[in-house]
Amino acid sequence: MKTVNLKVKRFDPATRKSKFQDYQVEVDDSAAVLDAIIEVREYQDETLAVRCSCRSAICGSCAMRVNGHAKLACMTKVSSVSPNGETIVVEPLGNAEPVKDLVADMGPFWAKVKQVQPWLKPSLPAPDREYIAPQEAMQDLVGAVNCIMCGACVSDCTVLEVDKNFIGPAALAKAYRFVGDPRETQTARDERLSQLSKYGGIWDCTHCYECVQVCPKDVAPMERILDIRRAAVAAGFRDNNGTRHSDSFARSVKHTGSLDEFRLLPESLGLDDIAAQLKFVPTALRAIAKGKVPSPLHHKRPGAEHVTRIFDEMEKE
Ligand code: SF4
Ligand code: SF4
Ligand code: FES
Repeated sequence: MKTVNLKVKRFDPATRKSKFQDYQVEVDDSAAVLDAIIEVREYQDETLAVRCSCRSAICGSCAMRVNGHAKLACMTKVSSVSPNGETIVVEPLGNAEPVKDLVADMGPFWAKVKQVQPWLKPSLPAPDREYIAPQEAMQDLVGAVNCIMCGACVSDCTVLEVDKNFIGPAALAKAYRFVGDPRETQTARDERLSQLSKYGGIWDCTHCYECVQVCPKDVAPMERILDIRRAAVAAGFRDNNGTRHSDSFARSVKHTGSLDEFRLLPESLGLDDIAAQLKFVPTALRAIAKGKVPSPLHHKRPGAEHVTRIFDEMEKE
């Protein structure tokens, strides 16, 4: 047995205020964080709210922040987050409103999942039992299919912290499950890719990698987002800020050996989109005032021809 010090973030729905509360419990050496929380709820404080069901890393309902990162509390061993008896800080999922204590409101999470229309739109006539897909075609989707909809990735997504319009890693990983399905019609696939290329979709991810690190099922949502980007570009959906941004980035690195930051924003917005350019004038003025505007003088770096050669080789492939 060992003593666990828990610092739990509690939220009172009546006052809408949060505060941390400390608990100390005795648990088995092999206990998970969820076991410690349940021990508190059962024997010390029955007012502590926590959501859980399977206790086997299957249902996804016990996702919460443990020491600042989203985890499934039932598969997180106390010994892994508190090897020397350190206090374990437990909070509800991030990027979600708390309902009570460790229970977060998952309503917006499910709304985003519904937004990507998570169902197959097949072209073949309805079969007697089920649509069959070749095994090799489905191999690529296994990662995305493993998602248990726990919300850990959404909790720690850095873009959702600042832009609630972003569809988010879980829903986009779910979208990939259908974009990559060979039974989907071409029209439905194109419609998906067109929708996902808009503001709030695939191009808003900043590749911070956080969702990959916290996902307990190795879905690697960021990789799935990159898969959808590749599919969208290959299908010709190039008229968006994300594709222009990546083109501008690649162009300047290819020709000069480094990134021309001065051109990046205007080229990403589209040089002919005057309205979009004008919207950024106040931001540009603030950046100038703070001395944060990159230099317009962008010179070719020594050895840039080697970078150009690498690009040429890759483009040939
Ligand atoms: S990689 Fe993209 S989707 Fe994943 S957490 Fe970062 S910004 Fe969000
Ligand atoms: S992608 Fe991973 S972290 Fe995100 S909801 Fe699915 S299982 Fe949870
Ligand atoms: S209780 Fe089901 S995943 Fe943790």
